[in-house]
This record gives sequence, C-alpha cells and structure tokens, in this order.
Amino acid sequence: MSSHKVAVIGGDGIGPEIIAEGVKVLDAVADKFNFNIDWTEYPNGADHYLETGELVSEDTLAALGKADSIYLGALGDPRCEPGVLEKGILLALRFHFDQYINLRPIKLLEGVWCPLKDKGPKDIDFTVVRENTEDFYVGIGNHVKQGKTHQELEVIRSLYSVKFGLDIEADRSEIAYQIGVLSQKGSERVIRYAFDLAKNKGKDRVTAVDKANVLSHVYNFWRTIVEDVSKDYPGIEHEFNYVDAITMWFIKNPEWYQVVVTPNMFGDIITDLGAMIQGGLGLAPGGNINPDGVSMFEPIHGSAPKYKGLDRANPLATIWAGAMMLDELGEEKAGEAAVNAIQEILSEGKVKTKDLGGQNTCSEMGDAVAEKVAGN
Ligand code: IPM
Ligand code: MN
Repeated sequence: MSSHKVAVIGGDGIGPEIIAEGVKVLDAVADKFNFNIDWTEYPNGADHYLETGELVSEDTLAALGKADSIYLGALGDPRCEPGVLEKGILLALRFHFDQYINLRPIKLLEGVWCPLKDKGPKDIDFTVVRENTEDFYVGIGNHVKQGKTHQELEVIRSLYSVKFGLDIEADRSEIAYQIGVLSQKGSERVIRYAFDLAKNKGKDRVTAVDKANVLSHVYNFWRTIVEDVSKDYPGIEHEFNYVDAITMWFIKNPEWYQVVVTPNMFGDIITDLGAMIQGGLGLAPGGNINPDGVSMFEPIHGSAPKYKGLDRANPLATIWAGAMMLDELGEEKAGEAAVNAIQEILSEGKVKTKDLGGQNTCSEMGDAVAEKVAGN
C-alpha cells in the first residue's frame, strides 16, 4: 500500500478546526482508494510564537522539506502585530519551498447560492494561476525620515538574488516606499505553467492580468514574457486585462475566463473576488505549488479569529484544498472522489454550515463529506 507523508499545520483561529475535518475526509478517501496518509502535526502559529518567540525554526523547515506535502489551516491572530505570522510563517514557507504557483480554481458548484444574478455553475468555472514569490510580496522597502539615508535591500530566491543599494534624499517630508520585483525567470515559469494548464485541460485562452498602463516597468516586462511564452502554444490565444477591468469582467462575464495568470498582488485581490462568485470564502481552495518540490495546500480564507473554537466554520474550502493535494500527490482519482463528495453534499442541501444558510457545525459538515466518500 502506498503511503504519503503529509505535514499538517492547523495554525490559528479556526485553522485547527477546519484542518481536523480535512484530515478526517482525506483519511476516508485514502481508505477507500487503498493508500495511507502519514500525518505529522506541527504547532506553528500564534500560540507557539507567543510561548517560544519562534515562527518557523530551521529544524522545522528541514523536517517539512522531507514531507511529500504540507496541509495548512490558516495563520493570523489578533494577539500578534498584523503580518508577523502571515509573513513569518505563511510567506516564509511559500518562499522557502519556492512554491511559485498559487493555483486557485474559481468554480461554482451545483447547489451553491451565487451572488451574481443569472449566472450558474456552467458560467463560473475557471482557474487563476497566481505568481507566488515575487512582485510587491518580496517585502523590500522602508519608512525613512526626512534627510539623507542609505539603504541596502536584497531579495534572495533559489532562482536568483538581487541587491539594491539606495541613496535616498527626502527633502520636506518623511516617506515610505516598497519595491516590487518581477524577474524574467520567475515570470516565465508561472506563465508557462498557465499555458500548460490550458493545454492539458483542453482550454483555448489564457488571460494575463497587469496594470501596464501605470506600473509600466514591471508589467510591460510581464507582457513581453507572456508574448514570448505564447509562441510555444499555437492553439491557445492570449489576451491582456488590466486588473481594475478584470474585477468588472469577473462580475459581468465570468463565463469568458478559462485560465487567468496574474502577478502576485493582483492575484491576491482578484481571488477574493473569485471566491465570492463561487459562493463565498468558505468554498474557495488553493494550492501553493512547486512542481518539483514540496507544495502546500490551504483554503484562500484566513483564520477568522472571532469564530475560533465555536465549531461553526465551513470546512469545505479546506477539504477541497486537501483534494487538490491528493491530485498533486498523484492520487487523482481520490482527489476527484473528494470533490464529488463535496458536490453531492452541496446538491443535496441537507447539511449546511452557517455561511451556507444552515445550522450545521464544522464537524458535522466534515462527517457528512467523509460518510459520503465512504458510501460512494
Ligand atoms: C492569501 C492571503 C495571504 C496573501 C496573506 C495572509 C499573507 O491573503 O493567501 O491570499 O496575501 O497571499
Ligand atoms: Mn488573500
């Protein structure tokens, strides 16, 4: 019997509750399809940080590096400064493992209420491929007082590193600045992934997102790389959408989209919108993927601290993210069975968490999906 080693980080807020339901369902799927998942839990998150001062240790990184995949609940806690856990754990893992693809399917399942009038499951079914290591997420910048200063900034990636030495002279006001970086290699690999995805799924259009009309240095560069890569995919057309316009088109004509490839920050923004048109954050999964390394799967939503411990969150986004993980682990049939079980539960409409207009708990939803998998 094959076995997959999966590292589990429940994290903060509702994270541990939703991840427990994900583990429950994935164990049921594994049983059904005759494989084993060997789970190892890691305590990283707010409690661990507040107790020990540690975000992720070198030892933990080394251990996670030996896993086949990472399954993550959510990070973020009001007891910590905003961003400490998100940057110190979530982004640190994405960057450390060079998970350069953030794959976010935007798919409205049957039986789910959609806020768009006259749109249904056949209209909302596309995939956003978000670049996951660059752009404004490289995190370099500073807040400097009036006067002269010198700053040394660097971005270290496994693909390349880049250093900036900046002489700053701000005469009449303090300033803050943030540098966004796109690299040729970093852009090409994600754009190629998007075209390959389109090709493998029999799609014929890739839409590339940018704001080249204003942020012209980085995003004209991005456009050139899209043009270059597209030459290798003759059957697939491509187009460019400005990020502001695409938010409008997602609402007006979601059926137009097949595969959308986007720089990191715009991808963050448009996938929250995508989540809403697929029925809400409770139903939106994602995968941080390194096709040659250790990938990490998590819901798009955050830790929702106010619902912590109440057993009321919707675990379906996390379960669905788990199904994406099975796919990445080579258990495609099992992944499909998990998504089908989610779909059947939603179509039947008997078990619904609060966000779906029902009264069921998080664990009742997990039980229902697990039983569906076992019974199918
Ligand atoms: C997401 C989240 C993260 C991001 C935060 C928590 C750092 O919003 O996964 O979309 O901005 O990527
Ligand atoms: Mn986000």
